[in-house]
Amino acid sequence: MPTPTEFVETLQQRIDHRMAELERIREPDANVPAQAMDAVVSRLKLALRNELEASELAALWMPSTAEIDVKLGLARQAGDEARHYRLIEEHLETLGVDLTGFDPVEGGYSPMFQLLRGYESTVERVAAAQMTRESLALTKNEQFIAFCEDAGAGATAEFYRTDIQPDEQWHVRLGRRTLEKYATTPESQARALAASTAVLDLAERVQNRQVHELGISHAPGC
Ligand SMILES: [Fe+2]
Ligand SMILES: [Fe+2]
Repeated sequence: MPTPTEFVETLQQRIDHRMAELERIREPDANVPAQAMDAVVSRLKLALRNELEASELAALWMPSTAEIDVKLGLARQAGDEARHYRLIEEHLETLGVDLTGFDPVEGGYSPMFQLLRGYESTVERVAAAQMTRESLALTKNEQFIAFCEDAGAGATAEFYRTDIQPDEQWHVRLGRRTLEKYATTPESQARALAASTAVLDLAERVQNRQVHELGISHAPGC
């Protein structure tokens, strides 16, 4: 059996490898949108849903998490994601976007939220949400920052770099630290790996749908 640290390192490499594959699913001309600012705004609106769902999920897991360090980590994350929601909302207002009547969760919870909500053990939860989904978010946000710079939205790029990304890095670290501490048996490592794989598989399906049905690539995560 790999040590927990070796296991986490291998899992991170696996996530990074799959993310590199995901990056290849994109619109052919995604780099230079004709309506640059509209494209940035529509992606920020998608981000509102992601932040809200990430906050709610962390809060949902707090009462059923026995490990105090993880419980408190989830509390911080719930607050971080709620703050991200408000910051993105304020940023959209500075861009002149009127959010009156906008419903970030129109159509109900996303398939990602529904998948994650089903996990009941701490190792599955943190492998799926903090380590995998937040690693994806970190990378997607980097791509979004580059997209904003290409689109002439330098203020949005700077906002993400300064106000969002440091917290997302902390969310990934929370996942890694928790797995290093608690994924100590072959059985718990197998469950963590399966949960991470399920998130990556779903992320691939979601990205295919966003690109082929909605024409959106480089949407920020949470
Ligand atoms: Fe996050
Ligand atoms: Fe966030």
